[in-house]
Amino acid sequence: MRNRVSEKFAEIYGEGAILFASPGRINLIGEHTDYNGGFVFPGAVDKGIVAAIRLNGTDKVRAFALDLNDYAEFGLAEEDKPSQGWACYIFGVCREIQKRGGVIGGFDTVFAGDVPLGAGMSSSAALESTFAFALNHLYNLGIDKFELARIGQSTEHNYCGVNCGIMDQFASVHGKAGHLMRLDCLSMEFTYFPFDPTKHGYRLLLVNSRVKHELVGSPYNDRRASCERVAAVLGQEFLRGATMAQLEAVKDQISEEDYMRARYVIGEEQRVLDVCEALERDDYETVGKRMYETHWGMSRDYEVSCEELDFLATVAEECGVTGSRIMGGGFGGCTINLVKEELYDNFVATVTERFEQKYGHKPEIYPVVISDGSRLL
Ligand code: GLA
Repeated sequence: MRNRVSEKFAEIYGEGAILFASPGRINLIGEHTDYNGGFVFPGAVDKGIVAAIRLNGTDKVRAFALDLNDYAEFGLAEEDKPSQGWACYIFGVCREIQKRGGVIGGFDTVFAGDVPLGAGMSSSAALESTFAFALNHLYNLGIDKFELARIGQSTEHNYCGVNCGIMDQFASVHGKAGHLMRLDCLSMEFTYFPFDPTKHGYRLLLVNSRVKHELVGSPYNDRRASCERVAAVLGQEFLRGATMAQLEAVKDQISEEDYMRARYVIGEEQRVLDVCEALERDDYETVGKRMYETHWGMSRDYEVSCEELDFLATVAEECGVTGSRIMGGGFGGCTINLVKEELYDNFVATVTERFEQKYGHKPEIYPVVISDGSRLL
């Protein structure tokens, strides 16, 4: 990717580019908890975005998306929002930096990525983090890492139409090879958690259904609104800390749908804590059980699964996979699977064959490699 990006940059704009990269992420458990002030447990992966950037001394950004073979040129004022969706991520990052007092100018860039799009692996966060990190570096803005993540999140809110939480951008910026991160999305405190399932005879892999998920203008925002309504009825800002008993007590004041959404979130908060505790005892069986519970909670109560993902989780269970669940926002994309070393080959072969038989195309398989966050290359 580096070479492709550098060569294209040289071809369009000449020499002198600096390369930056940011990864996509996985999340072991803790889905749709971030915007509820709960816990998440992500890690950065070895797939991401690489951008070549050079300041151009003008007030214009000239950007080339190599994978899309598409070019955009835009200014840095609010009214200069580009028409292409992909360019809005870069534009949004520039605007959010400026809103925070960062003085920036134009630049030339070429970027490419290998995070599969719409797979629930946060390709958009990788793009935002790459540019937030790069501009902070190139203009010496002194913005701390957490604020870089917030710049990406605000970009989603204000320029891309997704009221996402902080998990994806946080993970992309802060990732550390060999470590997951447990983030408390209320206090924003986080700890790095050494994570190497292979030491204990397990492997993590993603199975991509290739059903494209699209969070923009989607039921994602509706889910968040449901949670906020229930929190308000409970007299809280967030669902974090609410108990099932409290939820039962207000059941007749909320819709059946909002009740189900909140039931999932309250359960999920506990599952993240259970998983962390289980990992401290190297108890991967409990980790796996909670992953399945998350899957079916997301499917039945939160209703963000789809037929293909339910099928993948079911086949995983039939193959004896320790844990399997939808990863990320839902509505398509990948399952994340914790599988015993000795079952790995059989699972990959079986799930590939059975999925293809049923849906007419093969799922994609990605072994998970937990990697570093945003960086200068
Ligand atoms: C998307 C959002 C995140 C998070 C997940 C679900 O990836 O961007 O903030 O809410 O969905 O856990």
